[in-house]
Amino acid sequence: MPQSGLFSGNRKYTEKELRVLKEKIAVLTSGGDAQGMNAAIRGVYGRAVECGYEPYGIRNGFAGLLRGDIVPLSAQDVRYIASKGGTILGTARCEEFKREEMQKYAADICRENRISAVIVIGGDGSYRGACSLYRQGIGVVGIPGTIDLDIGCTEYTIGFDTAVNHAMNAIDWITDTSEAHSCFSVVEVMGRRAGFIALWSGIGSSARAIMADCTASSEDIICHLRKCGFTSGTIVLAEGAGRAAEVADAIEKSMNVHTRINVLGFLQRGGAPTAKDRVCGSMMGSFAVDLIREKKIHHLVCMKNDRLVGVGIEEGLRQTKSYPEHICELGATLSRI
Ligand code: ADP
Ligand code: F6P
Repeated sequence: MPQSGLFSGNRKYTEKELRVLKEKIAVLTSGGDAQGMNAAIRGVYGRAVECGYEPYGIRNGFAGLLRGDIVPLSAQDVRYIASKGGTILGTARCEEFKREEMQKYAADICRENRISAVIVIGGDGSYRGACSLYRQGIGVVGIPGTIDLDIGCTEYTIGFDTAVNHAMNAIDWITDTSEAHSCFSVVEVMGRRAGFIALWSGIGSSARAIMADCTASSEDIICHLRKCGFTSGTIVLAEGAGRAAEVADAIEKSMNVHTRINVLGFLQRGGAPTAKDRVCGSMMGSFAVDLIREKKIHHLVCMKNDRLVGVGIEEGLRQTKSYPEHICELGATLSRI
């Protein structure tokens, strides 16, 4: 019985011929890593093979592409990776890729390797890189991979759930000991340009106050703590909203109470992904291949109303994200108890 991709009529192709016949697509991870990127790579691989593509991996983002560091992916490479943090392909930041001549050079490398489309897993910076590759004639599809949730056109970015859970657990542990010693702890969580991790982990861990962005000053927080009669507990601060040491210092001086600081840092970006990140990553990886099949090769995989859709890159990059009002109100309400 003829099997699609392996036989044509009565003629059986050799493995060598098949490699020439199949359309090649590649996947890379770029910018900050995020838990769930491996699941997305696996999703790309699985769907690509099913659809008759030959899947390749590009090591270390755009930097690896410029070096021609392109490797064929096998089932063995991806079989058990969904449970692993980081990215098996490696990631990088590559300043020189912002130069047009480098983008042209990268597109030539894709053509030389007969790669017709590249799936880019990363944040909005990586999407800009993908867009520039498209301008040089290579198809691209972006998958949102960042723990910060700060991509406007999608409700979800892979990595966020795992990072929030890590932050929330750490805050819970820190709160136990702060309460035991009747002191305050200021915990700084990641999010240089967005405070979603602070907001979600702060609500989840019963924080006394949440500073998700620069709208509240240390004085506002002190005023709030006094008004509520708090003498201990945890204040959660997004990295982009200030420095933990400065907020802690202001509280200590003004309220005459011992105050500790904890900067959670990169522990938020590592470790085994949650089920949500494994499944979302897998779904997004598989969907990216479907977009390529539909010739939507200037698109981003986005979650809208809980469903995956393709959005044009430029349109997607124009969209911004704000904190949902009801979540902010909930955070404010709950930090009074
Ligand atoms: P993220 O994708 O997590 O937002 P960055 O902003 O650091 O991370 O971007 C990752 C990489 O994407 C950069 O190191 C660079 O190689 C590429 N990139 C970012 N902005 C552009 C741009 N305007 N043009 C071309 N490539 C870009
Ligand atoms: O992944 C996003 C992020 O975690 C930001 O919140 C943070 O500011 C940044 O990455 C730091 O990572 P790097 O040092 O790799 O730039």
